[in-house]
Amino acid sequence: MTVVAVIGAQWGDESKGKIVDGLADRADLVVRFQGGSNAGHTVVNERGKFALHLLPVGVLDPRITSVIANGVVVDPEVVIEEIDELERRGIPVTNLKISDRAHVVLPYHKIQDQLQEQSRGEWKLGTTLRGIGPAYADKASRDGLRMCDIIDPENLHDRLSYVVGEKNRLFSSVYGAAPISFAQVLERTAVYARRLKPFVCDTVELLQDAVAAGKNVILEGAQATLLDIEFGTYPTVTSSAPSVGSACIGTGLPPKAIDRVVGVFKAYYSRVGNGPFPTELDNALGETIRKRGNEYGTTTGRPRRVGWFDAVLGRYAARLNGFDHFVINALDVLDEFETIRICVGYEHDTGRLDRLPADTNVLARCRPIYEDLPGWRRPTTAARRWEDLPREAQHYVDRIGQLIGCPPAIVTVGLHRKCTIVRTPLL
Ligand code: GDP
Ligand code: IMO
Ligand code: MG
Repeated sequence: MTVVAVIGAQWGDESKGKIVDGLADRADLVVRFQGGSNAGHTVVNERGKFALHLLPVGVLDPRITSVIANGVVVDPEVVIEEIDELERRGIPVTNLKISDRAHVVLPYHKIQDQLQEQSRGEWKLGTTLRGIGPAYADKASRDGLRMCDIIDPENLHDRLSYVVGEKNRLFSSVYGAAPISFAQVLERTAVYARRLKPFVCDTVELLQDAVAAGKNVILEGAQATLLDIEFGTYPTVTSSAPSVGSACIGTGLPPKAIDRVVGVFKAYYSRVGNGPFPTELDNALGETIRKRGNEYGTTTGRPRRVGWFDAVLGRYAARLNGFDHFVINALDVLDEFETIRICVGYEHDTGRLDRLPADTNVLARCRPIYEDLPGWRRPTTAARRWEDLPREAQHYVDRIGQLIGCPPAIVTVGLHRKCTIVRTPLL
């Protein structure tokens, strides 16, 4: 009888997928509420290793109802690919629901993403090129197509013919790019829509009914607080709001339906794509973290930038989302370090800063002020209870808790689901 929101606290790839998978045994529903196929959630459990982009992690257990709610932008091609891949691996996807209100990512969104990135030059964001920005932009400018539009052939034809006309004018006159074929997009989309139609329903009502019936629900965040279009390091952010407010907007659940908000961190920070990163380790130490954490993008394969834990940004995320608890993933990645650093403030030309400035040019000039903690210099991957962790590792996690202002609930020491230490059960 609990609704728990699992929220990314950093710049994404905190291993939210692993945490949702760990909680899923006790869940009735798992719900994606924002973002799209820009997400890449790695799960390693008894069934194998999976990288999910659009399907909620709940699909790995057919008992669970998995919901792609209204706030998600759905690329039908990716959903179908993921369903087919899981079915090839012996996991039938029967219990999936897709919101009739969810906006659809269409081929022209991906072309537009690419054209805009090329055109930005030095302002390039380093997007995943999955069409996310253009799809949310069309949603805001009321030129989007929703699932309910594409499953109705007449509606699809009429709306699409208008939008493709607009896109072709944009592509040719602004970018000098080739036009796309309306007939081809229509045909492809109609085929995808027929395939997905059985999954499409009113998920707002479904979720409200589930909560009223006392089901256990996991709201699976994608991306993360620092990539939030409102509160992140704008403009190098994504086009949705991954912080907890979206768990209501993106599902139709009222704020009071959410019982618990859990912030997911890694023991260090990582970032893929452009933008300031005060604690970045662009050196051999960073390379060690990247190798030990296998920090290469799940969606694009790009090497991720890595750096020390930044408690200024951690506290910002904890307050913004009202984290009841936090999770520290990949603690084992720091096993071999003699000294482990936590950023506790910034030094800037204008003086000391203890919060995230709105202007990313200011953030880019911030120099971290570090607190040094002793490392534990022994393997932790076999630890399964808090007591099994070296004293220095316990101290590191507790110190993060003091600095960000909430208690730790889970620590993980390996990518496999079993490498989990639970201090406070979350579901
Ligand atoms: P998500 O998008 O938040 O679900 O996270 P991803 O799956 O994209 O990325 C998580 C990254 O952290 C991957 O590169 C994993 O290899 C790494 N990772 C997560 N948990 C652990 C852990 O406990 N130990 C180690 N060594 N690596 C981990
Ligand atoms: P998960 O759910 C990490 C980043 C991109 C880029 C910026 C904008 O796996 O944590 P977009 O394609 O969204 O317009 O790109 O956001 N980004 C992510 N980085 N993890 C993600 O998702 C991300 N989704 C988008 O790299 O910097
Ligand atoms: Mg990821």
